[in-house]
Formats: sequence, structure tokens, C-alpha cells
Amino acid sequence: MKFTAPIGVFDSGLGGLTVVRALRRALPNEDILYLGDTARVPYGTKGPATVTRYAIACAGHLVKRGVKAIVIACNTVSAVAPERLRVEFDLPILGVIEPGAREATKVTRSGRIGVLATTATIASGAYTRAVTRFSTRVEVFGQAAPLLVPLAEEGWTEGDVPRLAVRRYLAPLHDAHIDTLVLGCTHYPLLRAVIEEEARKSFGNDARVVDSAEATAEDVHSFLNERGLAQQKTQNGRVDLLVTDLPATFATMAERFLGERVEEPEVVDL
Ligand code: DGL
Repeated sequence: MKFTAPIGVFDSGLGGLTVVRALRRALPNEDILYLGDTARVPYGTKGPATVTRYAIACAGHLVKRGVKAIVIACNTVSAVAPERLRVEFDLPILGVIEPGAREATKVTRSGRIGVLATTATIASGAYTRAVTRFSTRVEVFGQAAPLLVPLAEEGWTEGDVPRLAVRRYLAPLHDAHIDTLVLGCTHYPLLRAVIEEEARKSFGNDARVVDSAEATAEDVHSFLNERGLAQQKTQNGRVDLLVTDLPATFATMAERFLGERVEEPEVVDL
């Protein structure tokens, strides 16, 4: 695989741009080809077989376009499908769960970590398994927070509506006495300010909120260097966007989100 090829990134929709943003900071020279499966979002309310089928279609499309590695930005796909994708495709495939779990294990002092994620991610137990690989003394408490996905998609990231939803979702974690909360879904960093405030109210001022995007970008960085796959050019890389539906809405959100101008996404049929 040539180091000049782009990194392929995919998600069920818009949320994976949180990972693209972190990749742009960590690896400014890399070209990124992003695919958002906006026709079939949300994945988090679907079963593992369906999510895996969608993920194979997304990864297959990126492979056809000649990417050098794939970053699964979606937590739900990273929770249920990475092994299958590694069997299907002969290129490096990196997910977001391990980096987030490692970061949370590093920052927790009490050894009690909460995970907010989609219903599918929580049901898979993937965060618990990943945390156990880094530490056997740390306990994980999962909480599905499905309503936060449409709120983020709608741009309702501040005010009473998201605040009340977040409060309700955090309530069961209060009794678990966690000190660290993982944002185990691509969309939740968009609501980070509200989640952080509510987490401090509920778990104390020292509560830490962990977003796996930055830890993932660091992993991708070292992985590409170790494999000799890192881009050698010095000028800034480009971001090309693909979606399966609604390109105009996506472009507006993407610009707001990445803080840079983007071309209108190309619509692809998977
Ligand atoms: N991308 C999904 C995740 O990170 C959230 C949105 C969805 O449910 O598709 O789990």
C-alpha cells in the first residue's frame, strides 16, 4: 500500500467528523476520505448483523477508492464489527473503542468508569472487554443514551432540552460513584459542554470526561509511522467527503464542525 494514499474514515453519519477533526490536528499532512452513511443513520439502534452488513459496504467502498488504512470512527461499528472487517479486507483497520478505553483507564483514580454510548455499543459489552485488557482493577458502568444522537444531528447541543436528557442518562451512573465518563459515541463530543457540566454536578468537580477521538488520532499517528505508511509531503492534506444521502445538509454541518471549507460531498450508492 502506498503511503501517498488517503486514510479512509467512515461513520454512520456526521458524528465521525469528531474523529476527522482530531486526525487533522494530529496528522495535518494526511489526505482523508470520509464516508458518512447518512442514508442509514442511526446504526446504534440496530442489531449487530445489520450494523456489520452496513460496515462491510462502507469499508468495501473505501477500499475500492484506494485508501491505505481504515479508521472506523463509529463506536457502534467498532463495538460489533472490527474482527469481521479485518477478515473481509486486507488493509489495516483501526477502531475507536480501544483508544478510549485506554485513555479512561489512565485517567481514573477511583477505578470506576462510566460509558455513555448507543444501545448497540452498550449491549455489546465492548468497552468492558477493552478496559479489562488494560486493567483488571477497573470497573465499567454502561449507560445507553440514544436520544443524544438525534439531538446532535439537529444541532440541539445547548440549552434545556439536551441538558435534561443528559441529566436523565447520567442519573443511574450517580449511584455507581464513577469519576471518569467516556463519550462512547461519535456524536456526544458535540454535546461535550453540557455533558461535562452535568457530569461535574453529578460526580463531583474532579470528574473527567474522555473523548476517544484524540486518543484514536494518536494511535493512527504512531501506527502509520511504525508501518512506513505516513504521508511524506509537507503541505496540508485534503478532506474529501462522501455521503449516501443529503449532501447539502452534510456540507453545512461539516464546515461548522471542522472549522474549514469543504466541497459539497459526493453521493455514493453502497
Ligand atoms: N456513530 C454512532 C456511534 O458512534 C452514533 C450514531 C448512530 O447511532 O449511528 O456509535
